[in-house]
Amino acid sequence: MFKGKARAYTNIALIKYWGKENQALILPKNNSLSLTLDGFYTETEVLFTEEATKDCFYLDGVKQSEQATKKVTTFLNLVRERANCPFFAVVRSHNHVPTAAGLASSASGLAALAGACNQALGLNLAPKELSKLARRGSGSACRSIFGGFVEWDRGDSDETSYALPIDAQGWEQELAMIFLLINDQPKDVSSREGMQRTVETSAFYPQWVKEAQADLHIAKEAIQHHDFQKLGTVMEANALKMHATTLAAVPPFTYWSPDSLRAMNLVRSIRQAGLFCYFTMDAGPNVKVLCQKKDIAAIFEVLSSTFSDQQMVVAYAGPGIELLEMD
Ligand code: DP6
Repeated sequence: MFKGKARAYTNIALIKYWGKENQALILPKNNSLSLTLDGFYTETEVLFTEEATKDCFYLDGVKQSEQATKKVTTFLNLVRERANCPFFAVVRSHNHVPTAAGLASSASGLAALAGACNQALGLNLAPKELSKLARRGSGSACRSIFGGFVEWDRGDSDETSYALPIDAQGWEQELAMIFLLINDQPKDVSSREGMQRTVETSAFYPQWVKEAQADLHIAKEAIQHHDFQKLGTVMEANALKMHATTLAAVPPFTYWSPDSLRAMNLVRSIRQAGLFCYFTMDAGPNVKVLCQKKDIAAIFEVLSSTFSDQQMVVAYAGPGIELLEMD
């Protein structure tokens, strides 16, 4: 019997990963850049045991269907092969999110699973190697191995595609991200499916890859100079470009809902009033607002005109993956 447990925090991309060069290895088309957050995390324990007759996955105490277990099983097959482990596994994950508002993320989930397997099977992977392993579970998971600002270098092979932290001399501690929870319905188009459809059919996709590269360069400069306005501006523009690609996909789709647009307009109006904040969105209708800690109270006050207290959750820069003792 082999067991391990880990905690990983979610990350939000400021420059998005959107599209794969290689589906099987999860190699992306472009580099991405994220901020790991303290608010939402996943704790996962894994037990490889000869008593298990198949892989079982419990999420927040609820046994998951075979379909929902697929990503987990695919990942377990990979580590079993690597560690020469013949046993099936029991995986228990707990998502620590303030509400069940669609914030459970595959980034923290698959990163925590990678960390737990690393410990259970004695793989002894250093963080960079663990990032490569987590990437095979879900691309964005490779960034959750590290805290603060992180860049995922797309590389061009299994060996060269991994994330590394960006040293911002602690500047990330001055920032905050406010989550505006718009909708907790399951998404129509998963990020995996959405990015694949976009790569294969969107006329705008080739331009996205070029833009993302340029945006990443600007974002890194902004971080280096602790230039909040520059970082926010490029983050927002990058998110809009990513979402524009989905409208040109065949068939077209969008993750925006009327309330997402309302939130984006509100953020713009807050900015016009002189308070700096910027939005980003991922593969769902929630809007995330990047701001400086010192402005949170003032920004909250304006956002409360449209959103309830339950719909607003604030998070700060968080740490990298942590190995835990089994209960
Ligand atoms: C929009 O990492 O969930 O959040 O690699 O197929 O598991 P897979 O996709 P996933 O995609 C995340 C997409 C995104 C942008 C980002 O996090 O960079």
